[in-house]
Amino acid sequence: MAQAGAFQQLWSAIADIGRDTATGGYRRFAWTEPDLRMREWFTGECAARALDLIEDRMGNQWAWWGDPDTAASGGIVTGSHLDSVPDGGAFDGPLGVVSALAAIDQLRADGFQPRRPIGVVNFVDEEGARFGVSCIGSRVITGALNPDRARAMRDADGVTMAEAIRRAGRQPDHLGADPETLGRIGVFVELHIEQGRGLIDLGRAVAVGNRLWAHGRWRIEIPGEANHAGTTRLSDRRDAMIGCARAVLVTRAAAEAHGSLATVGKISIQPGGVNAVARSATAWLDARADGEQALRATVAQIEDEVASSGAVVTEESRTPQTAFDDALVTRLASLLDGAPVMSTGAGHDAGILSNAGARAAMIFVRNPTGVSHSPAEWAEPEDCLAGVAALTTVLADLSGSEP
Ligand code: GLV
Ligand code: MN
Ligand code: MN
Repeated sequence: MAQAGAFQQLWSAIADIGRDTATGGYRRFAWTEPDLRMREWFTGECAARALDLIEDRMGNQWAWWGDPDTAASGGIVTGSHLDSVPDGGAFDGPLGVVSALAAIDQLRADGFQPRRPIGVVNFVDEEGARFGVSCIGSRVITGALNPDRARAMRDADGVTMAEAIRRAGRQPDHLGADPETLGRIGVFVELHIEQGRGLIDLGRAVAVGNRLWAHGRWRIEIPGEANHAGTTRLSDRRDAMIGCARAVLVTRAAAEAHGSLATVGKISIQPGGVNAVARSATAWLDARADGEQALRATVAQIEDEVASSGAVVTEESRTPQTAFDDALVTRLASLLDGAPVMSTGAGHDAGILSNAGARAAMIFVRNPTGVSHSPAEWAEPEDCLAGVAALTTVLADLSGSEP
């Protein structure tokens, strides 16, 4: 099993980066200073291990042990992301990257010589917290997201992604599909904190992920008419806030009706004055379901019901139901002592790669709180080490022989 001290050392080096002292949550948004510090940390850890670092056309960082360009069927890649949602937990993303580095350390300490190169990736902007679309790094390099659209996306301050990338000292003109990078991936196994309560009752520290639910994000724009809060008769009002409240409630009802999950986690009200009736409201819908049909039905019901407020619904991103590579899932479960196999409603770069044709699967590490996208997200130190041990076993197996 990996050294507890070595894991802890990697973990504590990033513990304070981008952490909000009031909430204890992380705010590591793509291309902001905390994200750049995380990238810098990653660069340093890769250099310390003599891994060759390659930044692709979107700025994802790939560190290689061995030369992926001389491997006929590509390398064995692991890793995850280092950005966060607003007030995110410590584990969502970083656990996969830290575990990857720790697994490499363990393989080397064991004297293991990989027959296929091993890569560790840090995907940029997985959460989409800054520009609104998730998994930007993997979507752009796989061609799932048009680079012109990506460059033009704006953050809450109106800064375009192109400008954010430029300010980070990079060249936004380079964004685009990157078949050369994708060609280096033979297999991708992403280790991730579990984001629900699946493992709590199973008495197991790790599971294998086999499927990601269909999911997407939609923007609901609700019109209204600005007016005085103290003088406008209720009967004369066109209050966008009422339509917004209705949108939140119909979202919940639609999820209940179709056995899906649907959330409004972000709204923007204009002009946003305490003493003014709202002129307009925007609500962002996140909807997910285990199956395309349930997702479609959920969103259709919401669209129908918000139409009565004159609202317009626009799709911002959508990721189809994703089944990971069957043979790979079976192999991982058997390597990991019959680990449970489970699906998730969370989205991951592993899903985007899989939809682009890569052989991919995931490893989940037990989360005793069952909470994620919150500072309450947690994994016990011994479970983190069990995750590293699992990843070490998997990397050794996949890189030691042709799967
Ligand atoms: C990413 O964590 C997502 O599922 O939104
Ligand atoms: Mn997340
Ligand atoms: Mn994640």
